[in-house]
Amino acid sequence: MSNVLVTGGAGYIGSHACKALRAAGYTPVTYDSLVTGWRDAVKFGPFEKGDLLDRARLETVFAQYEPVAVVHFAALSLVGECMQDPGLYWRNNVAGSLNLIEAAVASGCMNFVFSSTCATYGDQDNVVLDENSPQQPINAYGASKRAIEDMLRDFEVAHGLRHVIFRYFNVAGADPEGEVGEFHRPETHLVPLMLDALDGKREALAIFGTDYDTPDGTCIRDYVHVCDLVDAHILGLKWLQDGKDSRVFNLGTGDGFSVLEVLEQSHAVTNRAVPYTEGPRRAGDCTKLVSGSQRAVKELGWNPQRSTMKQMITDAWRWHQSGHYED
Ligand code: UFG
Repeated sequence: MSNVLVTGGAGYIGSHACKALRAAGYTPVTYDSLVTGWRDAVKFGPFEKGDLLDRARLETVFAQYEPVAVVHFAALSLVGECMQDPGLYWRNNVAGSLNLIEAAVASGCMNFVFSSTCATYGDQDNVVLDENSPQQPINAYGASKRAIEDMLRDFEVAHGLRHVIFRYFNVAGADPEGEVGEFHRPETHLVPLMLDALDGKREALAIFGTDYDTPDGTCIRDYVHVCDLVDAHILGLKWLQDGKDSRVFNLGTGDGFSVLEVLEQSHAVTNRAVPYTEGPRRAGDCTKLVSGSQRAVKELGWNPQRSTMKQMITDAWRWHQSGHYED
């Protein structure tokens, strides 16, 4: 079986990707520092503990496994945190990715699948964002991901490193078989926080801003199920292995949900109302991020099956009730 190096394979999306890779016949080799990931989430292939900033360790791992591709998830990804400490994001995300990309090229591994983000688009006045929309990030997280996209293009021109870039919208849900799920410490994401508030693990969800220029005043996001998202990565990997050109794909559904609408849907799924308070805006949040998502469907043959809000909350709720990883 072909090895695929999965950075961040111990994290939320990376662990689901490892499961999908194994099901598709690859051996996912997780490279993860465990700073935000969980050892317990590495269930589908070998684990190599390491930091992206450790170039020698990366070279050792490339030499040992000779991966046919890299799928690069490892990154810091919190909008609130990046506004406080942008240096963390430039160092870990940008300098770390430079090490990884250089190590991949040096080892002759020329297929690279990269997790980028809709945060690279920034706030663009209620438009639906497609892959040709201008990239004008309003936070250091988005800026760091845009810089890595640029880096990949430069490395293709100079060294022939071929890449697929996925710009994710908001990822939610969990493996329906319950083997892996979403678990962050601290938790900052809407869906798990909302479920914590639902079952009394925290007092109430604070809604970050009710004065946005949207129908109900709360931010609008496009939510995609983690299992659908990782399926696209398998298609992206095959795209590269088939020798197709480097390409950028949005991964979202094209449907926007406000924070209040997500809360209403979770009430419908769980039969419990989410207690919430109305708080101030969070710095760095865009008003509305909704994907023009046709390219992945038409060109990659992506067929998202579980990305209804009801299904995402149902799967997240099941995972939430069944447990979490150990510290
Ligand atoms: N929100 C709240 N209260 C909370 C947490 C979130 O109201 O306690 C709101 C946010 O303001 C936002 C929405 O819920 O409107 C979703 O917030 P998340 O923190 O779950 O997700 P973000 O939209 O901030 O972040 C996600 C990804 C990032 C990505 C970003 C693009 O986690 O990796 O989308 O904006 F960069």
